[in-house]
Amino acid sequence: MLGQLLHLAGIDAVIIERKSRDYVLGRIRAGVLERGLVDLMGQAGVDARMKAEGFVHDGTLIGYDGDMFRIDFARHTDATVMVYGQTEVTRDLYAARGATGGDTRFEVDNVIICDANTDAPYVTFDQGGKSHRIDCDFVAGCDGFHGVSRKTIPDAVRTDYEKVYPFGWLGVLSETPPVNDELIYANSDRGFALCSMRNAQLSRYYIQCDTADSPENWSDDAFWDELRRRIPAEAAETLITGPSIEKSIAPLRSFVTEPMRWGRLFLCGDAAHIVPPTGAKGLNTAASDVHYLNQGLRQYYAEGDNNGIDTYSQKALARVWKTQRFSWWFSNLMHHYPGQTDFDKKMQLAELAFLRDSPEAQAAMALNYVGLPY
Ligand code: DHB
Repeated sequence: MLGQLLHLAGIDAVIIERKSRDYVLGRIRAGVLERGLVDLMGQAGVDARMKAEGFVHDGTLIGYDGDMFRIDFARHTDATVMVYGQTEVTRDLYAARGATGGDTRFEVDNVIICDANTDAPYVTFDQGGKSHRIDCDFVAGCDGFHGVSRKTIPDAVRTDYEKVYPFGWLGVLSETPPVNDELIYANSDRGFALCSMRNAQLSRYYIQCDTADSPENWSDDAFWDELRRRIPAEAAETLITGPSIEKSIAPLRSFVTEPMRWGRLFLCGDAAHIVPPTGAKGLNTAASDVHYLNQGLRQYYAEGDNNGIDTYSQKALARVWKTQRFSWWFSNLMHHYPGQTDFDKKMQLAELAFLRDSPEAQAAMALNYVGLPY
């Protein structure tokens, strides 16, 4: 996305990617785009398929205690969200990049970011058995939690903040119609469950599981049975099941590193922060980083003004922390915690009842869900 936005401003970028194109396009990621990301897709000129095939949602359902209530985004905000897979966003961006002839190198290895805190940074890497070096003005570290970018910032300059949750999510993709036309987030004594979708014939479901669990422990039937037990009866009764076409487990973590800039290196997305998946903010927070960095770099190249890049970390982090808070709050509200006391459970139920009954609480949830302004 950053490469495409920069290209449109006449700024060249070389993209280096550790994996193959097919690997990236084969991964199943989340599928809810905030309004800010929907706008960015437009700015990048890659929103045609999203507009044709994506689904606009103006509400979501919360299930607990055998029942459901709805949060109406349209009532509380002037925005909606777009249900469109992150993988499809990537596919559209790859197609656009292909059309511009942009320089993207796949399957690179041993990436080293050098002299990032000088005026002449460069990146070295191996590809196809050869060593390469790219001299550049800036490095955008969009290389994920396990990438080299964050680790390039010296420990003495960096502070990491982390919370690891004592459970994971088991996700299943199936070629079945979604159980409901809006997403259902369900809190149950057996643990959290989420009913999501990709399109009218493709559903995405998740259930909270043990961190030590493995997808091989779950037959499709066992997964469907467990999902049915966790979602409100009304939904369970109409659930259409079928063979899974993907099954995987993701751990849950909250993580932020500060600052998000060191010299001429900028961190974007998972390189700098991770959210637990509840609320689908991972991709969306990466998108807001890209927005701030794109603005800063355009200002630098068009006007010779450093202000945007100098304030990048501060602006990005201000929004990152608010999104962290929402993802943490929504995760705490919806999951069963091992060792949770009866009091803790009552607090969850009271908070859910408050959300169900209070338009103000619903407004706070809706504002965060559709995405805080950039
Ligand atoms: C999806 C994932 C999420 O974490 C979420 O909150 C909503 C939807 C998804 O994969 O569709």
